[in-house]
Amino acid sequence: MEKKDITIGLFGFGCVGQGLYDVLNHSQGLRANIERICVKDKNKPRSIAAGFFTYDKEDILTHKDLNVIVELIDNADEAFAIVKQAMNNGVSVVTANKKMLAENFRELYDLQIKNSVALIYEGSAGGSIPIIRNLEEYYDNELLSSVRGILNGTCNYILTRMELENKDYSDVLKDAQVNGFAESDPWLDVAGFDTKFKTLLLTIHAFGIVLNPEDIFNTGIQNITYDDILYAKQRGLRIKMLAVSYKVGDKFRVYAIPHFVDKSSELFNVNYEYNAVEVEGAYSCKQTFVGKGAGSHPTGSAVLSDISALTYDYKYGYKKLKKQIGISGKIEEGKSLIEYDFPIKLYIRYQDREQLNELEIISVEEEYKSSGTNYIIATVNFKSLFNIYDKRGNKLFICAI
Ligand SMILES: NC(=O)c1ccc[n+]([C@@H]2O[C@H](COP(=O)([O-])OP(=O)(O)OC[C@H]3O[C@@H](n4cnc5c(N)ncnc54)[C@H](OP(=O)(O)O)[C@@H]3O)[C@@H](O)[C@H]2O)c1
Repeated sequence: MEKKDITIGLFGFGCVGQGLYDVLNHSQGLRANIERICVKDKNKPRSIAAGFFTYDKEDILTHKDLNVIVELIDNADEAFAIVKQAMNNGVSVVTANKKMLAENFRELYDLQIKNSVALIYEGSAGGSIPIIRNLEEYYDNELLSSVRGILNGTCNYILTRMELENKDYSDVLKDAQVNGFAESDPWLDVAGFDTKFKTLLLTIHAFGIVLNPEDIFNTGIQNITYDDILYAKQRGLRIKMLAVSYKVGDKFRVYAIPHFVDKSSELFNVNYEYNAVEVEGAYSCKQTFVGKGAGSHPTGSAVLSDISALTYDYKYGYKKLKKQIGISGKIEEGKSLIEYDFPIKLYIRYQDREQLNELEIISVEEEYKSSGTNYIIATVNFKSLFNIYDKRGNKLFICAI
């Protein structure tokens, strides 16, 4: 197939935008160039010629010579408006914006069909790890049973440093912010929302099930203390923030929760900003993909791979999703395929026992109280976790066993 030339209109020239610019300039044989770049702040110094830049999105969206839009901005709502307009203009889009994709997936799917354009987003989950296209193409006929992994570099970086340097959460978080491994408002990362958005995307490509972000329970490391790390260490375990999506019978369980992992797990030694995804299939058995989950060049390289795919008119086939859609032609309510009523064994550290009242505790295996820390090991009805969902004031640290 003859490859076509790609002329790119780029939105965003921050961490990933600049990374893409570098990797594209060093790539060989790819007939793609960045023509214009839209950014926001007129006073920011830029590392490349001023002639590239515009501050008006219409300069790019109405530009007649651009055949691909690459969206790499840090605002999901503004990104959605840009991507929607580009697709309605008949232009294919590459993005790495998992929040925008997760919050608007149904509409974005319909826009791809309506306008016969591609929307591809390898950089949105797992950074440099080529997981989405693999789930979509390589495992297109494989009966997958489980996809789980470490998908948030900020959480993994903080957890690794807490354990290896015997430090408390707030010290490591401050340091991570100074060194660019955490945002100034880290809530979406540390509270598990970012992992949840990626879990949602992997569930679409692994199983063909579309969920809304609020259908997936998430909690993160926002309340972790060094005591929790010590608890794990003393038992030869590590705490990892995991995305989980797996099949049980004809239903699926999907959530984003910290887990204890032991040495036998491939995830045990995935540290700092590295990510990993474990895919389990009926015939392929377990396979693990490991790589840098974030950062300028790793994410830029995933975006570059998407641009390269567009030179041969690649689109996600959504084969598994189309099977679920069936004859109705509409994306069904994915939530009906998800199981919520099941027991899950958890380590729960609390300050005040009253905080546990909102959970449906089935049995308590162990309870520890001291002046410094209190925890229980308990089996809880999973669906009751939604009672404590997204409350910034809640001080529980929850870790699956
Ligand atoms: N950083 C990573 O490692 C990573 C990994 C995977 C995915 N992602 C995703 O990639 C995207 C970009 O992340 P980033 O880390 O590169 O962000 P960033 O460093 O904060 O850069 C954001 C860029 O977007 C520009 N911008 C913001 N609002 C805009 C608007 N309305 N119109 C035009 N430009 C606008 C900013 O302009 P100014 O330069 O003028 O401020 C800046 O250049 C996000 O969706 C993020 O979730 C990031």
